[in-house]
Amino acid sequence: MVYPRDVKSVVCEGHGEADVLRVVETAAPVVSGRFVRVAVRAAGLNRADLLQRRGLYPPPPGAPAGLGLECAGLVDEIGEGVRAVRPGDRVMGLVAGGGQSELVAVHEGSLLAAPEHLGDAEAGAFPEVFLTAYLNLFLLGGLEPDATALVHGGSGGVGTAAIALATEAGARVLVTAGSDERCRRCRELGAALAVNYRDGDFVPAVLEATEGRGVEVVLDCVGGAYLEPNLRVLAPDGALVVIGLGGGRTGELDLARMLTRRLRVIGSTLRALSDERKETIVASFRGRFGAALAAGRLRPVIDRVYPMDRVAEAHRRLASGEAFGKVVLSVP
Ligand SMILES: NC(=O)c1ccc[n+]([C@@H]2O[C@H](COP(=O)([O-])OP(=O)(O)OC[C@H]3O[C@@H](n4cnc5c(N)ncnc54)[C@H](OP(=O)(O)O)[C@@H]3O)[C@@H](O)[C@H]2O)c1
Repeated sequence: MVYPRDVKSVVCEGHGEADVLRVVETAAPVVSGRFVRVAVRAAGLNRADLLQRRGLYPPPPGAPAGLGLECAGLVDEIGEGVRAVRPGDRVMGLVAGGGQSELVAVHEGSLLAAPEHLGDAEAGAFPEVFLTAYLNLFLLGGLEPDATALVHGGSGGVGTAAIALATEAGARVLVTAGSDERCRRCRELGAALAVNYRDGDFVPAVLEATEGRGVEVVLDCVGGAYLEPNLRVLAPDGALVVIGLGGGRTGELDLARMLTRRLRVIGSTLRALSDERKETIVASFRGRFGAALAAGRLRPVIDRVYPMDRVAEAHRRLASGEAFGKVVLSVP
């Protein structure tokens, strides 16, 4: 397909509320080396977009200034070093920014083939949350098939992906979510236990569900406020992986508990990793879950899809806390 020199992209004009969002003409990316130009059909929204819009999460050095950490579409052009895909292939991939654009450059190592059974919106909503859940539950947390994970925010994009992956792997997954109805939906997706965190402490319910032993891995998006209770629900040799700080950046760490139970506390971000490290993660995901993806057993939960020019509404939906699963932009 022949594209004009300029393409439409979502950017922020300054920082602030959703009214700083604009869809503007930007220069079409030119690709070389191992980069692939993707003609985007859909791009997921993430909490990082809300933070970036407010000036709290700038793109890493070298990343495009526009919004969007993931996208799906058709390969449009390839650099001379690309081996994994060809023009016309349907793909989905991770980017450090600029995914919400008609055309985006993606490193071939950050791409997965988009299976036919995934619609465009599902494919555009897949990479960030599934690869985040995979990296943190399995590669960093070391979740084993017969083990149990506690996932905070089971109702969110990452949480719903974590339920799908843990269940597929044969692990048991317990979650927290913000209402009884959201807990019910998490159980429907496969969570063995869902605790409404607004009703109080999740610790007794998690300990009861594990006969006092605790869980092998906690995937946490809350941070400081949950540090102490998270340590209390970890089984010996367990790992707490912190991926978000919705509940503050500091907390009290009981080192005696950590030491005697041989616990690990790990902080993790996917976006800022190098292309080489992302390639390793994506290849490992493909090896472990590629067959399940191809067979249609892994699909993101889609909350709503908005056309790209209604990006402000999409941000408001995600910020409202009412979305269950992913909010996505469709790109005409
Ligand atoms: N480090 C990384 O590489 C990385 C990558 C992707 C995402 N993240 C972070 O991971 C977090 C989740 O991302 P997402 O895309 O899933 O966002 P999302 O779709 O907006 O979901 C946010 C989730 O957080 C839950 N939550 C909020 N306060 C909570 C609390 N006190 N206890 C338990 N759960 C609580 C919400 O539950 P209810 O809505 O049911 O109340 C919701 O499920 C965000 O903080 C995001 O920035 C980090």
